[in-house]
Amino acid sequence: MKVLLVGGGGREHALAWKFVQEDPHVEIIAAPGNPGIAELARCVSVAATDIDGLVALAAHERPALTVVGPETPLALGIVDRFRAAGHPIFGPTQAAAEIESSKVFAKELMADAGVPTARAERHTEPASAKRAARAFGAPVVIKASGLAAGKGVIVSQSLADADMAIDAMLSHRMFGSAGSEILVEEFMQGEEVSLLFLTDGERWLPFVPAQDHKRLLDGDQGPNTGGMGAYAPVYPLVVASGGGAPGAPVTGARWADWHSVVGLAATQVVEPVLDAMRRRGRRFTGALYAGLMVTSDGLKVVEFNCRLGDPETQAILPLTRYALLPLMHAVALGDRLESSEWIGHGRPEHAVSTVVAAAGYPDTPRTGDVIHLPPPEPGVHVFHAGTARNAAGELVTAAGRVLAVTAVAADLATAQHMSARHAAAVEFSGKQFRTDIAWRELARGARAS
Ligand code: AMP
Ligand code: GLY
Repeated sequence: MKVLLVGGGGREHALAWKFVQEDPHVEIIAAPGNPGIAELARCVSVAATDIDGLVALAAHERPALTVVGPETPLALGIVDRFRAAGHPIFGPTQAAAEIESSKVFAKELMADAGVPTARAERHTEPASAKRAARAFGAPVVIKASGLAAGKGVIVSQSLADADMAIDAMLSHRMFGSAGSEILVEEFMQGEEVSLLFLTDGERWLPFVPAQDHKRLLDGDQGPNTGGMGAYAPVYPLVVASGGGAPGAPVTGARWADWHSVVGLAATQVVEPVLDAMRRRGRRFTGALYAGLMVTSDGLKVVEFNCRLGDPETQAILPLTRYALLPLMHAVALGDRLESSEWIGHGRPEHAVSTVVAAAGYPDTPRTGDVIHLPPPEPGVHVFHAGTARNAAGELVTAAGRVLAVTAVAADLATAQHMSARHAAAVEFSGKQFRTDIAWRELARGARAS
């Protein structure tokens, strides 16, 4: 099969790796790809946001399947354009991608579908937004409605901070038009879990739950980033279970394993949202990412993404036993996703992915530092995120998040240790990485299913 893979980050490297595992004869063309992906695919220098260029590339290459990694091309309507030109593509249409590209739309959808989420109000005027922040009380969350490269959410510990965030977005247009409409949102206390699903718009197939680590430093200290690492599966979340029936109140119990968390999220979140999207004529096909907060009142949606997560994918795919290519191909062709046999599809192993970031990340990442990778190690996958080759052919840093080092092991502590040790052995000037990815679960005491 010939596959066009759109994107050039760690998530796309993990997808390319998984495709080659599934089918050593797969022919992958990556646009634009990166030096890691180049070991598995033919990279073509067309940017992931150049929709005209990608349509032209597809017309020339005739891929049997196109898979899109990042959200921007989806929000720009790549799926609509490819479908119109007759190229099978896995992902949501522009209208369906609004579940991520408009947080206001996502909130309205959840309200309609009865999906639990934080209370929020939509505002376009600073004065009324500030009044709303006072009504909610601090801490309060200020969110740009549109896509802001993962930076559009400001969790404000005080009303003064909330006012600053509101002014920055609505008056000073810090995020351009993406912040001309904002949400003022109730702060939710809890632990986050990322649940990713493949869907044909009606049926769904889950991946193992994962947890991202947004803060730069160990112990969840320091500034917010795009994600400094992830682990999977997330096992013993302390919440509640009302038996898993749709809408059942959640009280007190401890989830025994990740299958129940996925089952609960599927009935309380995914199915109602997919139904509501179909009713609005915006059938959602592709990968649906539900960012959930596990609160004392049960699961609540933090956000939806219209694609796989980064860096969650780098932890999840090495554990995923089922083959993605035939499922993605079926969805791209408009066929049914057979989803009856998902239980047990994750390997009974643990993955920890540690992001190695550039000097100056997240504010002003430095590029061009020469990278020396340690020798390959069994059980460790080094996925390239922001790397490039310089004129001398050396591997250099090219973006804030440089590598995602995923280790897979029979127990979580070993996976963490292997991942951190390998990340420590990567050499480039000013590198930053955390040594404690999965710390919450290790602190609770991980248990095997
Ligand atoms: P988002 O871009 O919507 O994922 O938000 C980025 C991060 O902000 C999330 O991963 C959460 O850690 C945090 N966040 C967003 N909304 C809330 C909320 N209502 N309460 C607490 N934290 C939130
Ligand atoms: N890991 C968060 C995201 O992919 O948006």
